[in-house]
Amino acid sequence: MSQSLKRIHHVEFVVGNAKQAAFFYRKGFGFDQVAYRGPETGCPDRVSYVLKQEDVFLVLTTPPRHDDPLNTWLALHGDGVRDVAFEVTDLDETYGRAVAAGAVSHSDPAELSDEQGSVSVAVIKAYGEVLHSFVKRGNYPGFLPGFELRRLPGTPVGINCIDHIVANVEDRQMDRWVKWYDDTLGLSRFVSYDDKDISTEFTALRSTVVASGDLNIKFPINEPADGRKKSQIQEYIEANLAPGVQHLALKTDNILETIAKLRANGVDFLPVPDGYYDTVWDRVGEVAEDRDEVRRLGILVDHDDDGYLLQLFTRPLQDRPTFSIEIIQRAGSESFGKGNFKALFVTIEQEQALRGNL
Ligand code: FE2
Repeated sequence: MSQSLKRIHHVEFVVGNAKQAAFFYRKGFGFDQVAYRGPETGCPDRVSYVLKQEDVFLVLTTPPRHDDPLNTWLALHGDGVRDVAFEVTDLDETYGRAVAAGAVSHSDPAELSDEQGSVSVAVIKAYGEVLHSFVKRGNYPGFLPGFELRRLPGTPVGINCIDHIVANVEDRQMDRWVKWYDDTLGLSRFVSYDDKDISTEFTALRSTVVASGDLNIKFPINEPADGRKKSQIQEYIEANLAPGVQHLALKTDNILETIAKLRANGVDFLPVPDGYYDTVWDRVGEVAEDRDEVRRLGILVDHDDDGYLLQLFTRPLQDRPTFSIEIIQRAGSESFGKGNFKALFVTIEQEQALRGNL
């Protein structure tokens, strides 16, 4: 069934100031601005900027008028992801199956048109206040009808696709959402990590990854687990006031170059804990990348039976401790950096403590 979901079409964020957010993602992460929709293009209620880097499309949307209900969304959650949109091969079939399996509809299939052609879209509700749009493009040449080509080049950093998108849900809700993704979208359980895999002396979480058969779509779903102190997942849910998207993992084929450029752009990454590189090579073994460079750039490394991966996480990208970005390069491994969880979580606990949320 999941063949009906072709790929992630775009990820839409609701933000307080889309103009400035677009500048941030363009200058910080190297995206090109490619399209725009707003009052000047006949859309008085919403302003959206579309950013692109290879296959990654981000849409940044602001409600410019005070009486738009999207302002309530912003007041509750702060800047964050509102829609993870899929391109689908058969809209009626995908949407019909999802709703029949229990998904709550946000909007029925409808055709959007402009002078360039038309695209059909339907939307369902997922965890928290996150939506999934289904987009059936046909031969439409632009981003979506209603958007105007408005190009402002960025300086690409080598990001080429979305690797995975992580959901944080409430305690004891993970299994429910795993089943929901299987029932409604045909995304099945790929791997699970329990609280023994993902814990420190103080905090813990559980995670199950659901994925499409071709692994083009991978959604880890996290829930907090009991620990001596507050799980980072609980901190997220309290700051977001709801379940939501915790991070977007963006893939590169050259993480040394990508991280060097992002650091030069001033992107703020979580620091690597003291002593990490004293033991990591014993754990991971041979990698093609220069070890000194990996260390100099503060990149994390992990491996499994199939190969290894390199990854690094930003600090939250807004003042609430909610959404962040991961940069990942895979060399055979299709896992998520289990070997780094402990090291990473010690760092996150230190940051939680500084925020008074541990
Ligand atoms: Fe991740």
